[in-house]
Amino acid sequence: MESVEGEASLRGQAEIWKHMFAFIDSLALKCAIELRIPDIIHSHGGPITSSQIASSIDSPSSPEISYIERIMRLLGHKNIFAAQHPSDGGEPLYGLTHSSRWLVTGSDSNQLGPVFLVENHPYMVNSWHFLSQCVKEGGSAIEKAFGGVYIDLASKDQQFNKIFNEGMACNAKFLTREILAGYKHGFDSLKSLVDVAGGIGGLISEIVKSYPHIKGINFDLPHVITTAPVYDGVTHVSGDMFHTIPNADALLLKWVLHNWSDEACVKILKNCRKAIPEKTGKVIVIDVVLQPDGQGLFDDAGYACDLVMMVNTAGGKERTELEWKKLLEEGGFPRYQIIKIPALQSIIEAYPE
Ligand SMILES: C[S@@+](CC[C@H](N)C(=O)[O-])C[C@H]1O[C@@H](n2cnc3c(N)ncnc32)[C@H](O)[C@@H]1O
Repeated sequence: MESVEGEASLRGQAEIWKHMFAFIDSLALKCAIELRIPDIIHSHGGPITSSQIASSIDSPSSPEISYIERIMRLLGHKNIFAAQHPSDGGEPLYGLTHSSRWLVTGSDSNQLGPVFLVENHPYMVNSWHFLSQCVKEGGSAIEKAFGGVYIDLASKDQQFNKIFNEGMACNAKFLTREILAGYKHGFDSLKSLVDVAGGIGGLISEIVKSYPHIKGINFDLPHVITTAPVYDGVTHVSGDMFHTIPNADALLLKWVLHNWSDEACVKILKNCRKAIPEKTGKVIVIDVVLQPDGQGLFDDAGYACDLVMMVNTAGGKERTELEWKKLLEEGGFPRYQIIKIPALQSIIEAYPE
């Protein structure tokens, strides 16, 4: 009995060490992304040694090979890279895995690297040190740490604005493929579509490419719209969704409502309702639907995102289906259906009657 207890306690201890150092997994991987190690391995076409990685790193001085070896050893151990250990005791080789392939940049639409850099930016990470203070006093950790939520910080810090917008656009890219495949008939009958808080317009531009009969409008704050590229079939409009939203047959809200409190979401939804036809209009919300006690592939990420929203926004959160139902009803959308796609987010199609 005692040895079973002892074994369980030892496992418990190991578990705590693992959590103590969990940030190292994120930040070591962030370092690998910044050094473009997934790209270097990819362009080599197969597994390579740390010395070969070092020789391809863009640096004015020669990179510290011993540092790269140790970073790769950890990331190999975590199966982010596939480590091969030659039987002659030579340098280990590192190849891509199904995980690190998501971090290769380029024309491939499967890219998570830019999102990773947003979520691990000092603004997003350092604010966590204020969380216990927030539990006691309320408020938002990022405001206590940096004097504003991420949107304020992006509007003042051009470098972060660029990192943030690129992260959102790349997430839109691979999610778009799933949205287009999983919501095939949702766009057919639309003549016009506004992507509300659409960032630099990545999603709407892809939708319009597949449905050229749709007049696309990308709507966001002025500091975002000024950095948006020109896309065929898309008009960029700057404004404030709390004030007014451009009219269209339907409105998209992707990764928007989770940034806001219930009260703010109801205001946005009421403005959405004013912008669409009374009977035939709809909103297409693309956001996480939290599964209570869910054990699915993305459930861990969903719960983590919920805390990201708690720390880095003023009142934002991820929501369960019940919470969405209540919110949509209050915002003027009493009927809805959830369409699951193979992604962290789901599609919630909601109607004014
Ligand atoms: C998490 S990002 C999502 C961007 C985009 N929908 C996507 O999924 O890639 C939230 C967006 O909301 C925009 N936003 C914030 N407040 C806004 C407002 N009052 N009116 C319009 N857009 C706003 C931000 O500028 C940002 O682009």
